Amino acid sequence: MTNIDFLLQRQSTPLLTEPAPNQQCLEKILAAGMRVPDHGGIQPWHFTVVSGNGLQRLSELFVNSSNATANLEKIAKMPFRAPMMIIVTTQFTHHEKVPKQEQLIAAGCCAHAMQMAAVALGYGAMWRTGELAYNSQVKQGLGISEDDEIVGFLYIGTQCKELPLKPSKNFNAKVSYWQ
Ligand SMILES: Cc1cc2nc3c(=O)[nH]c(=O)nc-3n(C[C@H](O)[C@H](O)[C@H](O)COP(=O)(O)O)c2cc1C
Repeated sequence: MTNIDFLLQRQSTPLLTEPAPNQQCLEKILAAGMRVPDHGGIQPWHFTVVSGNGLQRLSELFVNSSNATANLEKIAKMPFRAPMMIIVTTQFTHHEKVPKQEQLIAAGCCAHAMQMAAVALGYGAMWRTGELAYNSQVKQGLGISEDDEIVGFLYIGTQCKELPLKPSKNFNAKVSYWQ
């Protein structure tokens, strides 16, 4: 596939199973995450790689951070949607020329770049958030400051089955031209 076709055919893979990326592939995925546009070169992000027993630990953190009225059975299963998760969080830094908004965008680019890298290496991936991404106890359990943000839970694994390619979206209503 050409690079442009790879970009034009991007889509998520919600159904993921073993195997997770091996160490060599994981390192390439993380390296792609480090390669994003970064105003000021401040690297305002952090990646937490969760796999193996880490998935169980995350499941417990999710359950313990949730309201008793929530569907705890469903919440407990969430981390097991894939054999690996990379949690992308911000690591905001004070910089005269780089407002927080730009730092958040850069961290978002990390999640996207790592999703693309995983797919390029033959894996499937899906970027999720949900209420738990905005939960103070989850942040605390992950060791991130209250001022930082969970940008995404990037689920990575092997596609359970080949999904049909979704049709392209028309850009006309989203584009204007100054000529
Ligand atoms: C910041 C962010 C958070 C997201 N959170 C969720 C989520 O919690 N659940 C979900 O089903 N999709 C979520 N998505 C959307 C999926 O990643 C995916 O893009 C969407 O299901 C459309 O599928 P596609 O990527 O194949 O076009 C999120 C996307 C972004 C950028």
